[in-house]
Amino acid sequence: MSDFYAVIGNPIAHSRSPLIHAAFSRQTGQDMRYEAILAPLDAFAATVSIFRQRGGKGMNVTVPFKLEACRISNRLTERAGAAQAVNTLVFDAGEILGDNTDGAGLMRDITVNRKFSLTAKRVLLMGAGGAARGAMLPLLEHEPSMLTIANRTKQKAYELQQQFSYYGNVVSGDYSDLRGERFDLIINATSASLHGKLPLLPAGIFAMESLAYDMMYGDERTPFLQFAKQQGVARLADGIGMLVEQAAEAFFLWRGIRPETASVIDAMREKFKV
Ligand code: ATR
Repeated sequence: MSDFYAVIGNPIAHSRSPLIHAAFSRQTGQDMRYEAILAPLDAFAATVSIFRQRGGKGMNVTVPFKLEACRISNRLTERAGAAQAVNTLVFDAGEILGDNTDGAGLMRDITVNRKFSLTAKRVLLMGAGGAARGAMLPLLEHEPSMLTIANRTKQKAYELQQQFSYYGNVVSGDYSDLRGERFDLIINATSASLHGKLPLLPAGIFAMESLAYDMMYGDERTPFLQFAKQQGVARLADGIGMLVEQAAEAFFLWRGIRPETASVIDAMREKFKV
C-alpha cells in the first residue's frame, strides 16, 4: 500500500497542497497518496490521532491549527520552536515531530527563485502575527543590515523584536514610525490583503531596485503589490512561490528527495491565473 499524507485545516476545500504534492510525487516517482482533511475546530488532536491510526506518515497543517500542532508534537525542530508554530508533522516510531517549513520556503523563493540577496540589505517585515514570527529567524540568518518590524499593534512588534534581537539588528514600531525610511525588501506578512486592505505605508518607502513580497496571493494582484507598483517597484512577488517551496521542504522531510519547483510554480500560476 502507498504511504499516505494529508493537509489538515478548517476550512480546507481551497487548499492547493494536494495538487502540489501530487505534482511532486509524479515528478519524483514516489509511491504516495496525499489528501485534504477538514478537522472540526474543536477536534484537531483527535483528527490527527485517527489519521495516525490509519497509518498516515505525515501531515501539513494550515489555518487555524499551527499553534495546536506545536502543542501536540513530542519533539520540535529549532525553527518550529522559534516560530512557535508547526506546519509539518512527521509520524515516526510512535513519535510526532513538529517542523515549520514556511520560513525556509519564503527564503528559498526570495533568494533562489527571485535571486535577491538579503545580506547587508534593509528589510521591512509588515505584521507581527504567526506568519511574521515564522519569518524572523530565517530572515536574520541571511544577515540583513537591519530588520524592521512594523505592526498596527506596536506592542506585538516590540515583543517580536525582544525575542529575536539576539540574532541580529532588529527594530520595531508602527506604520507611522516608517516616515522617511527606505527599504530594499518589504515583506507583507499581515492578513490585511485577505480583507482587501493595506497597512498605511508612506510614499517613497521603496529603495531603488527593491523587491516587494506579499506572502498572500489571490486571483488578482494584492493591494500591497498594487501599491508597490504604483510606487514604481518593478520586482513584485506574491506568495505562490513560498507556498510551493514550503511544500517542497515538507516533501523533502518526508521522502528525502527535493522536488524541482519551478515547473510546479508555473503550473499553479497557469491553473489559478495569478
Ligand atoms: P497570521 O498567523 O496569518 O500572521 P495573525 O496571527 O492573526 O495571523 O496576525 C495577523 C497580522 O495581520 C497581525 O500582525 C495584524 O495586526 P495586529 O497585530 O495589529 O492585529 C495584521 N493585520 C490584519 N489586518 C490588518 C489591517 N487591516 N491593517 C494592518 N494590519 C493588519
